[in-house]
Amino acid sequence: METSVLLLRVCLALLAMPIYLLSFLGIWKPFCEKIFFPYFLEKLSVIHNRKTHRQKQDLFRNLPEFASTSGELKLLEIGTGCGTNFQFYPAGCRVTCTDINPHFQQTLTRNMKQNQHLRYERFLVAAAEDLSQVPSGSVDAVVCTLVLCSVLDVDRALREVLRVLRPGGVFYFLDHVAADRSSWKYFWQQSCFPTWKLVFNGCCLTREIWKNLEQANFSELKLQHISVPLTWTPIKPHIIGYAVK
Ligand SMILES: C[S@@+](CC[C@H](N)C(=O)[O-])C[C@H]1O[C@@H](n2cnc3c(N)ncnc32)[C@H](O)[C@@H]1O
Repeated sequence: METSVLLLRVCLALLAMPIYLLSFLGIWKPFCEKIFFPYFLEKLSVIHNRKTHRQKQDLFRNLPEFASTSGELKLLEIGTGCGTNFQFYPAGCRVTCTDINPHFQQTLTRNMKQNQHLRYERFLVAAAEDLSQVPSGSVDAVVCTLVLCSVLDVDRALREVLRVLRPGGVFYFLDHVAADRSSWKYFWQQSCFPTWKLVFNGCCLTREIWKNLEQANFSELKLQHISVPLTWTPIKPHIIGYAVK
């Protein structure tokens, strides 16, 4: 690894030393999951939603087309967090929320109250890599935004998406990804990587998630690379799109 990347990593680790120390003592992870990350995500999702509002509107525009023959639309959201995406789902949509972290209750409940055009069915505490509580072929649509950057195994998560979708069902995704390897952005992402991952609950900056999507067995993939203007952050490069089973 380049010396300059290593040097910057050390500088950032020194700046974040108290967090490394709390992590060493086993205090950071539970604190992050219960208090810091729910607080941080509430703030981040407002900003991120504002910056991607138009793209999300465009993304979810064809969602009603994936309703089953009975006219019902069963949607499963993976890593729902605070429920930022609810406002983009069509009226009557039957939503099942899943997240590995159950500590978003307060903001999630508020977002549910603000989006009463939806029917909330279940909240499952589950990892994207193991959705065994959801029967195979049982949903029309799966949504996953800003989650594949954090899951432990992207390919396993995508296999679960394919399993739970009915044939012809749709998977919507939006995530930040690795920048072009020859760019300064990539250098910045590599430098921030370890400290960022520790502070932001396992979030990985240099994943080339489009490759996992291309290799998963979807019958159709519509994928776009976009830049989200999140100034001063290493998470500007994003992919957005949908894939059909
Ligand atoms: C950055 S937040 C995004 C939340 C929401 N999807 C949004 O767009 O605002 C990442 C979410 O993924 C969840 N998450 C992380 N790893 C996960 C996993 N392996 N399985 C399911 N959810 C996971 C986190 O708990 C968190 O709610």
